[in-house]
Amino acid sequence: MRFGSGFFDLQLRFAHRVSDLSGMPLGDALLGYTNFYIRFGLGRAFDPHHAIWIEYMDGLARSADQTAWTVRFFATRQGLPQPSHTVATFGCFSYGHRDAGCLRLHFENADPDGQAPLAAERKSARRSELRALLAHVRHAEPQATRLAGVSWLYNLASYRRLFPESYLATAKIAGGRFRNMPLWGQFLDRHGTVRTAAAALFLDRLARQRSMDDLVQCFPLQPLAVEAPLSDFHAFHAIA
Ligand SMILES: CC(C)(COP(=O)(O)OP(=O)(O)OC[C@H]1O[C@@H](n2cnc3c(N)ncnc32)[C@H](O)[C@@H]1OP(=O)(O)O)[C@@H](O)C(=O)NCCC(=O)NCCS
Repeated sequence: MRFGSGFFDLQLRFAHRVSDLSGMPLGDALLGYTNFYIRFGLGRAFDPHHAIWIEYMDGLARSADQTAWTVRFFATRQGLPQPSHTVATFGCFSYGHRDAGCLRLHFENADPDGQAPLAAERKSARRSELRALLAHVRHAEPQATRLAGVSWLYNLASYRRLFPESYLATAKIAGGRFRNMPLWGQFLDRHGTVRTAAAALFLDRLARQRSMDDLVQCFPLQPLAVEAPLSDFHAFHAIA
């Protein structure tokens, strides 16, 4: 998927504010409070001594325009093999293994027609993808009994309508997601452009933030964690 420069700019601003509020070095704030390490394809160890991360930080220190440097650096990392937890993909949906009995669902725009992926007209296409995923899982993952998700998307009616009520009813705010797309993804539209209203609200709240307490409240939407038995999905999608 595409990530416009605004996506990196927003996170740099956040990291600078975190650094100011906490006194931690900017590098620590970038490592702990942005999606950069993952976006650069470095995995999830968040190792400050990783050679590629050090290369990024060195360039940042020399750059007059930190956003431009970050965007250029990200471009050099695109197209490289990335560590992935994804097991299989069905259109906009994919899944990975969360633990022995539980699969984790992911969403990314892959609508072939370039239409709004969550629009009412695309609801049946999304439901077909979910049905295909569930049918596949039934054969390929016999040990799995549950499906879980964590995302800002569970706040949206257009996303929620794709899932059974029992799954949505378990929604709990998932804390500590400052490095992850379940939090940062809310600022992107399907073209990878930053959503102006969400970003403006975020920056306004960030400017008013006076401490590290409740930092996540700067984000307009909170990531929600949900989980339910696979049998609930089978019933919802009428999979015999
Ligand atoms: C998910 C994603 C494709 C949605 O993009 P989009 O261009 O808004 O797609 P849609 O137009 O189909 O949007 C769905 C609806 O949600 C609304 N919406 C999207 N983002 C929103 C936000 N941050 N706040 C409020 N509403 C939002 C849209 O307005 C739209 O509603 P509408 O149909 O009533 O107009 C895009 O945000 C994205 O690619 N994000 C990065 C990936 C990601 O976050 N994946 C989940 C990781 S856990």
